[in-house]
Amino acid sequence: MKAIVVTDQAAGTAGMTLAERPEPQPSINDVVVQVHASGFVNTELGWPSTWTDRLGRDRTPSIPGHELAGVVTALGYGTTGLSVGQRVFGLTDWSRDGTLADYAAVEARNLAPLPGDVDFTVGASLPISGLTAWQGLVVHGRLRAGQSLIAHGAAGAVGSMVTQLAREFGAWVIGTGRAADRQAALAFGANDFVDLDNEALEDVGPVDLVFDLIGGEIGKRSARLVRPGGTLVSIIGPVEERPADGLAIDFVVESDRAQLGEIVQRVRDGRLRTHIGTIASLDEAVAAFNPTERRPGKTIIRVRP
Ligand SMILES: NC(=O)c1ccc[n+]([C@@H]2O[C@H](COP(=O)([O-])OP(=O)(O)OC[C@H]3O[C@@H](n4cnc5c(N)ncnc54)[C@H](OP(=O)(O)O)[C@@H]3O)[C@@H](O)[C@H]2O)c1
Repeated sequence: MKAIVVTDQAAGTAGMTLAERPEPQPSINDVVVQVHASGFVNTELGWPSTWTDRLGRDRTPSIPGHELAGVVTALGYGTTGLSVGQRVFGLTDWSRDGTLADYAAVEARNLAPLPGDVDFTVGASLPISGLTAWQGLVVHGRLRAGQSLIAHGAAGAVGSMVTQLAREFGAWVIGTGRAADRQAALAFGANDFVDLDNEALEDVGPVDLVFDLIGGEIGKRSARLVRPGGTLVSIIGPVEERPADGLAIDFVVESDRAQLGEIVQRVRDGRLRTHIGTIASLDEAVAAFNPTERRPGKTIIRVRP
């Protein structure tokens, strides 16, 4: 099968190549999915799991990309809950070959059915950004109606989901980002917007929840804006400065069939809009992941035309 592979961590996305790889075999509780569309996050080339297996052994050449939408073509021993021919989408194991390929093997529990009226490209754009937003707001942030929230990078893949879901849940949302992102963030439902390059974040006053995906100085300054009893949720690693009188939580997104179902239902009924910027084929994937200019929105690879 055709797949994008990486062998050299130092090379980053420039080191991605299109190669021929053996088709994956389904392990216990797996399904094999014929990938129709795949999503990839640049930072995964910095994660140890892209390069080594759970025992620390080199697993290169490895196939990156951990979001997929496609059709089940085979079931492993003991697999239940999904059938051959079923449309599915979801998030695959960080330590196994990923989804920038014609086929991927994935544990069935990490997938959810993809309704027939949701395009594969849309399905592949939802798992990481949708689940991360859901888990940060609902599971870790315990957001309640009437609370206020800083949604950093509100025009980005995760931030746009955070903004839309938080508004639906009845929160007051202050989006942040670059000057050029203001209109997009407001269109995703942000009540207010802070251009981090030119405006003072501190002017927004204390908030109940900060959803941080930037970190560094912005993360530290955000921690000081958390109200007593509030929470700083980070998705970019351990928090460098904790709120004086609040919680700090960092987490890595996990797949969850029920939450995937919640997310895709919202896409179907129009409550949630995904932010796809570029759609490219597998042959064009390496160039698409090495853009020469800033490209807003998520890049999705349409593996099958
Ligand atoms: N822990 C987890 O489970 C998890 C899950 C998903 C994502 N993540 C991480 O979360 C981060 C965001 O992911 P994403 O997919 O949402 O990325 P994205 O689509 O690139 O969105 C990030 C947005 O934030 C903006 N931004 C970043 N730094 C900024 C700064 N200093 N000032 C103003 N705006 C800034 C970006 O603008 P520019 O493009 O102009 O910088 C972009 O609009 C990544 O580091 C990713 O690895 C973690």
